[in-house]
Amino acid sequence: MLEVRNLSKTYASAAGDLPILTNVSLSLARGDSIAIMGPSGSGKSTLLYILGTLETPSSGTMTLDGRDPFTLPEKTLASFRNKEIGFVFQDHCLLAQCSVLENVLIPTLVGAARSGAMERARMLLTEVGLEARLNHRPAELSGGEKQRVALARALISKPLLLLCDEPTGNLDRKAADSVMSLLLDLHREQQTILVLVTHSMEMAGRLPLQYALTGGQLCKPQR
Ligand SMILES: Nc1ncnc2c1ncn2[C@@H]1O[C@H](COP(=O)(O)OP(=O)(O)OP(=O)(O)O)[C@@H](O)[C@H]1O
Ligand SMILES: [Mg+2]
Repeated sequence: MLEVRNLSKTYASAAGDLPILTNVSLSLARGDSIAIMGPSGSGKSTLLYILGTLETPSSGTMTLDGRDPFTLPEKTLASFRNKEIGFVFQDHCLLAQCSVLENVLIPTLVGAARSGAMERARMLLTEVGLEARLNHRPAELSGGEKQRVALARALISKPLLLLCDEPTGNLDRKAADSVMSLLLDLHREQQTILVLVTHSMEMAGRLPLQYALTGGQLCKPQR
């Protein structure tokens, strides 16, 4: 369960405080998925970074399965994030010098070694249709293929929370559709909590719930 209560974020700037998020609340159970849309600069990535514990809120609380990550010591927080949260960004963020298989295994290399990681990496790469590309370097893949590797990497640690920030933003329509289908299939299969930020109405429409982030508030649009 992801519980967000009255979460606010204000950045300090030369011109004074810059409020970005104001009392955002959200409650999502395992298997739930939402899309977040909103104008550029409205704070979508900021919200996703806070949910991903990469950024801290100015006020408010967040718990994931009853645990508040922001109360954890830094080292414990890093392993919590590594285990419980998967990220897919607009840019694939793969390591150029590592193979497809190694890239997917990277989150399992820090902290306690995880048994079955290799088997799971191969299983996930097969699910995203890249079983014949395990030893390729990212430069040898198409944009859509790179995002499929990023998706497999995000899911390697069986995270509870899957956060995607415009994961299909750099792809053409056909590749975007196919990455989105894989993302939704894997989300259902792995029963993650999926939060997807997108500028595309069409992609957002493939999720059961669409929120709009405007003026610092997260609103459910009328349908
Ligand atoms: N570290 C920071 N310090 C100060 N201001 C920041 C910082 N990070 C983001 N901002 C500001 O917060 C606002 C929200 O940024 P954010 O990246 O969350 O927007 P977004 O909704 O993801 O936009 P886009 O759709 O363009 O990706 C912007 O006005 C941005 O300039
Ligand atoms: Mg953004």
